[in-house]
Amino acid sequence: MQAPPAKPGMTIGEIDTPALIVDLDALESNLDRMSAILDKGRVRLRAHAKTHKSPVIAHMQIARGAAGQCVQKVAEAEALAFGGVRDILVSNEVVCPQKLARLAALTHIANVALCADSLAGIEAAASAARDAQTTLTVLVEVNVGGERCGVSPGGEAVALAQAIAASPHLRFGGIQAYHGRAQHVRDPAERKAAAVAAARAAAMTVEQLKQAGLSCETIGGAGTGTFMHDLESGVYNELQAGSYCFMDADYARNSPDPDDARPGFRQALFVLSSVMSVPRPGIAVVDAGHKAVAVDSGLPLVFGRPELSYVSASDEHGKLTVSEEKPAPRLGERLLLVPGHCDPTVDRFDWYVVIKKERVVGLWPVAARGAMS
Ligand SMILES: Cc1ncc(COP(=O)(O)O)c(C=O)c1O
Repeated sequence: MQAPPAKPGMTIGEIDTPALIVDLDALESNLDRMSAILDKGRVRLRAHAKTHKSPVIAHMQIARGAAGQCVQKVAEAEALAFGGVRDILVSNEVVCPQKLARLAALTHIANVALCADSLAGIEAAASAARDAQTTLTVLVEVNVGGERCGVSPGGEAVALAQAIAASPHLRFGGIQAYHGRAQHVRDPAERKAAAVAAARAAAMTVEQLKQAGLSCETIGGAGTGTFMHDLESGVYNELQAGSYCFMDADYARNSPDPDDARPGFRQALFVLSSVMSVPRPGIAVVDAGHKAVAVDSGLPLVFGRPELSYVSASDEHGKLTVSEEKPAPRLGERLLLVPGHCDPTVDRFDWYVVIKKERVVGLWPVAARGAMS
């Protein structure tokens, strides 16, 4: 673990770089906005912790009404459970016996559920639960258009649900119907159409499960790009949005839905960088390359500085161009980068440097950094 790059009370100019910055006012505003949007009686938020990887932020979400957290990995579930989070869904398939044994062990301190999309996965989960003398809750993952994991809607999902319900060591928890590809469809009408089709497939599956005598406690799905449509569908009762707490440059490229009068979420996550070279006119180089900021969903933006374009990333260098009529940034100048993709950017740091009005007010560990097992 690296030493924290700042101390409480420091100004932005005193923080060592590159550093992962959270604007506390923006984070709290995003969490409050989501909590206000959700009709708490009918639809729960199970915020996705793959974004923040932090029990601190998980507890902030739970304090605002979230039912619990989603994670993608058993190691993330462990980091949250050891940080006091008591309701965790692994929104993913877990099939290896050693991982299932770790997950079953967590049921002694938290409500734990996982997804399955195969009979073999269900049998492996049942063996782990039996060996640990516990019960695991299993949701059937349904492919509602994302074309990643998940069985087809309808009959295939019913067959798996029946296998879960028939096991003395498992509990059927419902379905996960998450459409990942829909989240970043830029055109709002196309994004909505994908979400509506996903909700229809989920509803048809829920109906067939009902006819087979199985009720879904959880009908889960949704991300930051579609959750308003998923909410309006009346089908989902648990939303799994994650990125909304921080946002990123990729989500900023989604055109806003004209029907949604609510203001968007604010950018709350940044990578603070320093200009380390101004080698030629019109060029500046910062100390944050792709080891500090994820570029899988596009290059970062330079916050509040439209005249600067981050044009290429190497391991430890970020090259910026400066538009002609503007002065180049000074050597040593601090620049806030808006990451292209928030989740993997967070994974590059051990510490959140939490700021309020340009002063450091906290250092929070990224507890599930590197939790990929
Ligand atoms: C299963 C699942 N649910 C929810 C999410 C959250 O999506 P977002 O961070 O876009 O809100 C993801 C993100 O990849 C996911 O894989």
